[in-house]
Amino acid sequence: MIMDPYAITANVGGQANVEKLKAVQRDFRTDTITIPSDAMLQVGMQATRGDDVYNECATTAALEARVAKLCGKEAGLFVVSGTMSNQLGLRAWLTQPPHSVLLDFRSHVFQYEAGGLAFHSQASPLPLKPWNGHHLTWDDDIADDLILGDNIHCASTKIICLENTLNGTIFPQDEIVKISKKAKEEGLIMHCDGARLWNVAAEKGATMETLPEVMKELCDPFDSVSVCLSKGLGAPIGSVLVGPAALIKKAIHFRKLFGGGIRQSGAIAAAADFALTHNFERLRDSHKLAKRLSAGLKELGVQILYEAETCMVFVNFLPLNLPMNAVIARAAALPNPIAFNGARLVCHYQLDPQAVEDFIELVRVMKDEEVSKGWVPEIPRVNGATEITRLRGRDKNYNTAIKH
Ligand SMILES: Cc1ncc(COP(=O)(O)O)c(C=O)c1O
Repeated sequence: MIMDPYAITANVGGQANVEKLKAVQRDFRTDTITIPSDAMLQVGMQATRGDDVYNECATTAALEARVAKLCGKEAGLFVVSGTMSNQLGLRAWLTQPPHSVLLDFRSHVFQYEAGGLAFHSQASPLPLKPWNGHHLTWDDDIADDLILGDNIHCASTKIICLENTLNGTIFPQDEIVKISKKAKEEGLIMHCDGARLWNVAAEKGATMETLPEVMKELCDPFDSVSVCLSKGLGAPIGSVLVGPAALIKKAIHFRKLFGGGIRQSGAIAAAADFALTHNFERLRDSHKLAKRLSAGLKELGVQILYEAETCMVFVNFLPLNLPMNAVIARAAALPNPIAFNGARLVCHYQLDPQAVEDFIELVRVMKDEEVSKGWVPEIPRVNGATEITRLRGRDKNYNTAIKH
């Protein structure tokens, strides 16, 4: 019997999972909270059961080879998380401190990996704020800030680490190619945190058939790339580091050192493989939901901080006189609750499109309440800054829980 790849029934694991799905269908916190379908878990039963630390699990090896090939790289390494994948890649490249890694100040590697660069690699981060507010460019950001040469006062830059997508936004490929070309001229390594690179491929129109050529094009400017299977693709666990075989060999050694070797990894590798096969083509639907959410909120006067270029949109409700916490609390108190926890709203393949409409409707209701209390939707200027900017600085929840 062919199973529905998406069904979640009480037959596998009980009613609690069915109830969990209902909550997830209205949860905008992140795309990692999707729950595995019955079929995604059941493929684990078909997996090989060898010890992957001994390199004896064919299912895991097949997944690594599949992802490496998709990305146009020699080899791949299955690891438990995107954090581990990034940190292993960076550690394997960085041989001799002092050294620095140039990255966007908003990037996951800089902000949300618990200082791993310093801890694991003894590297100084060199975080830059993109001049254009969207993505780093060679001419406006990187060229002047790279640390080159052997000045003994400095930690020279060894790696340029770019994130794509970053806050759901797509890094223009022509700029990546330019940065890579210049980086190569300076003998630098290019690493990509491509936790959501699949979303870029989806937005570029890739199908399962064209995915290899699209991913290869996206990965070509980089020496190593970390891709996550546990975000929009919906695997319960897993990321893959791809790059040259020699780098992956080193990364295997460091994975052991980090305590990250997985013994009978076949079942989770099989689930991750299933996620890639069945959920890649659903990413575009998540992007459509994010765009609908963004358009609906924008029409009401909500400030859009990051446009919905892929699966997420960043919002500020203060132009409607609504502090973030007030909206979070009202959404959680709905008869059919909606969950989110800050400016970032993420759409995923298990989200119910009705939740998007209900979200927009809630904000409409709250805006109307403000108007009926006598509030006038105007943006006065205070000392050159808009009132929104001033209030945003005060709203401690404005920037919470951006990236997980
Ligand atoms: C851009 C980006 N990179 C890396 C990671 C790390 O992934 P993990 O949570 O699997 O460690 C995340 C997590 O959300 C992320 O958003």
